[in-house]
Amino acid sequence: MHRLALTDEDKQARDLFVQWLKELGLEITVDEMGNIFGKRKGRSPQLPMVLSGSHLDTQPKGGRFDGILGVTGALEALRTIHENHIDTERSIAIVDWTDEEGTRFAPAMLGSGVWAGYFDRDWAYSRADLAGKSFGEALERIGYRGKTQARKWPVHAYYEFHIEQGPVLEKMGKQIGVPKGILGITWFDVYVEGQANQAGPTPMNARKDALVAAAEMILKVNDLPPKMGGDLVATVGEIQNFPNSRNIIPDRVRFTVDIRSWDDPFKNQAAEAIKKEFPQIGQKRGCSVRMEVIWEIPHTVFASNLVIRVEKVASLLGYSNYSMVSGAGHDAAYVCRVAPTAMIFVPSIGGRSHVEVERTRWEDCEAGANVLLHCLLQSANE
Ligand code: HGY
Ligand code: MN
Ligand code: MN
Repeated sequence: MHRLALTDEDKQARDLFVQWLKELGLEITVDEMGNIFGKRKGRSPQLPMVLSGSHLDTQPKGGRFDGILGVTGALEALRTIHENHIDTERSIAIVDWTDEEGTRFAPAMLGSGVWAGYFDRDWAYSRADLAGKSFGEALERIGYRGKTQARKWPVHAYYEFHIEQGPVLEKMGKQIGVPKGILGITWFDVYVEGQANQAGPTPMNARKDALVAAAEMILKVNDLPPKMGGDLVATVGEIQNFPNSRNIIPDRVRFTVDIRSWDDPFKNQAAEAIKKEFPQIGQKRGCSVRMEVIWEIPHTVFASNLVIRVEKVASLLGYSNYSMVSGAGHDAAYVCRVAPTAMIFVPSIGGRSHVEVERTRWEDCEAGANVLLHCLLQSANE
């Protein structure tokens, strides 16, 4: 899949999703962040609704399940409710959150983050991709800048159905994962500036090589988790090097840092270590370093009553299930800050995700969708 947020491919998926919502006779809302909601009215529409969904945008050359399963699973649940003429007390809505991945427009979860009140809408609109295109322009261009304010409303319960994106469930031989929450995440953008020069005549001791400085910093990021221990993970996933010609000493490098841990003070300690070490490496190599923390979200703890419900429903349906923590970020992280939230995981084959070979067995997708259906019905009738 190569369906980056707010591209023509994203528009195609959105248009198809809206068409499916229309076929179900749902009340459709697109808000000013392009979040798409489809609501099935309950007997008491004045009561806080039940909400479920995920995202349709993908990573570059990503998988066919990440996010997509949560949106189509929620759609399938509503289709099943509709086909069986089931009425519920509370309304049930499903959602496609805009730009969960944050790979084209960083940070991640911009759509759910604005809706939950954690990002300012105009700041989100100003976020630009590498080509300098802003989120606001791109949203306008695909025709999904809705009129409705992207502002939270009372939600009785939110469930997000998602692939695990890791190796735990497969290793434990369990069919349903029940995350108790999500790791805290910090994202840096790092800019290193040296001096470009000819690769031949310039003596080694007279160089200010931004790429070599960046390379030393990147190794430091990778050395941090084993040095600090605990559950810390740290990744440099993106880098741009200028002028990027084989016979010019690079003078500008931009790269990203992603660090995560369940323990927020521990994650912040890792961030502080990076903030301290990078300028020292830069100085040693005659380069200047600018670091921007563009995103920080503390760890997320889901609503225990809904977590217990997911476990109970999975067991009732005869699915083995396993309590765990999500290393991957999800829109549920922001919804959880304004509404009771829980997630339903299914195994990723080989623990692979954010790659083309991302796959989950169809019987596991069905199991997860069944758990979602019954959790939605229980929450919508209480
Ligand atoms: O970064 C994440 O874990 C998610 O894919 N946005
Ligand atoms: Mn996802
Ligand atoms: Mn993802």
